Amino acid sequence: MKLNIALLKGDGIGPEVTSQAVKCLQAVEDTFGHEFQFTEALVGAAAIDKYGDPLPKATLDVCKKADAVLFGAIGDPKYDNDPDAKVRPEQGLLRLRKELGLFCNIRPIKVFPNLMEKSPLKKKVIQGTDFVIYRELTGGIYFGEKSLSEDGTSATDSCTYTEAEISRIAHLAFKAAKARRKKLTLVDKANVLESSRLWRRVVTKIGESYPEVALDFMFIDNAAMQLLLKPSQFDVILTENMFGDILSDEGSAVGGSIGLLPSASTGENHALFEPVHGSYPQAKGKDIANPIASILSAAMLLDHFKLDEESRAVVIAVLKSIKKGIVSPDLNTSSKYGTSHIGDFISGNIRDSE
Ligand code: NAI
Ligand code: MG
Repeated sequence: MKLNIALLKGDGIGPEVTSQAVKCLQAVEDTFGHEFQFTEALVGAAAIDKYGDPLPKATLDVCKKADAVLFGAIGDPKYDNDPDAKVRPEQGLLRLRKELGLFCNIRPIKVFPNLMEKSPLKKKVIQGTDFVIYRELTGGIYFGEKSLSEDGTSATDSCTYTEAEISRIAHLAFKAAKARRKKLTLVDKANVLESSRLWRRVVTKIGESYPEVALDFMFIDNAAMQLLLKPSQFDVILTENMFGDILSDEGSAVGGSIGLLPSASTGENHALFEPVHGSYPQAKGKDIANPIASILSAAMLLDHFKLDEESRAVVIAVLKSIKKGIVSPDLNTSSKYGTSHIGDFISGNIRDSE
């Protein structure tokens, strides 16, 4: 398969971890006979420094022309610590999601057998945890009308969802559930919010076309609790933008290190793959960042193009590195292995996987 991949490494540890993911994709390319072409472009603080814009037009063009975007992370302390900064790196990612119409954010959360002691939860609680969150990414309260009264004592954010917005992500979530353990939990606040009641109606109706998937409902407050009490009960969680934002960050703590968690954001015509973590500026250039979240994001990219065997080879190579203890300091404080060495080990294993 020929794939044109836009490479947006970004700031902080972004370039280091993304380079490891590229090594792995190149190993897949050689081993399985594909042709991946990478086009690098600037985003975030690096792009502000050069062009005064966190998402220059040239970068957006590269992304729009590509089959997929592999994204690192953005963010730099020089902007985080300046409340008056007019242009911020994060605006680059938000605009990119919007421009590419990436309405569906997918975050798989899985506990690795050899890393159970890394979780803040007890082993018997997290055993068997393997779920995926489908979060709506371009609607809801984050994109609703905002206003502040003239005297500054009252503020409004409104939450709007249309049937079409709910329906397109619901289909994706049902399809995912059908290919997994066939359970879908819609998380909402239908006892209070009108928009949540619309979600329930639309999702229930769509569920009729997926009779093999068991659909259930959970209020967001209970879901936040259940995620810590019994995370293994979930298979696919479907939820709106803000609830999904909060729940997915809570979920990322369950696995033990944010350095392990990949994500995908998809739309009608585009798809972007990135680690869940940020630019971790304290680790920049130190060769200590965990590259696994980025490498597993590359595996999700392969999944997206139905390169199942290739994706499996990447995941197996990652598991091998964990099993052998070839991991970064977030997983083992006395580890002597660096980001780049781990990338070499995993990509080397992919090459052996034929
Ligand atoms: P962060 O995710 O960069 O780091 C938080 C902590 O997580 C780190 O102190 C470290 O202990 C751990 N961590 C993160 N990535 C790791 C990795 N690969 N290996 C090992 N440990 C890792 O979040 P923080 O510190 O809140 O934000 C730093 C910058 O990143 C900010 O400018 C923020 O705006 C930006 N950010 C960007 C995101 C993106 O590009 N999608 C997402 C989140 C934050
Ligand atoms: Mg968040």
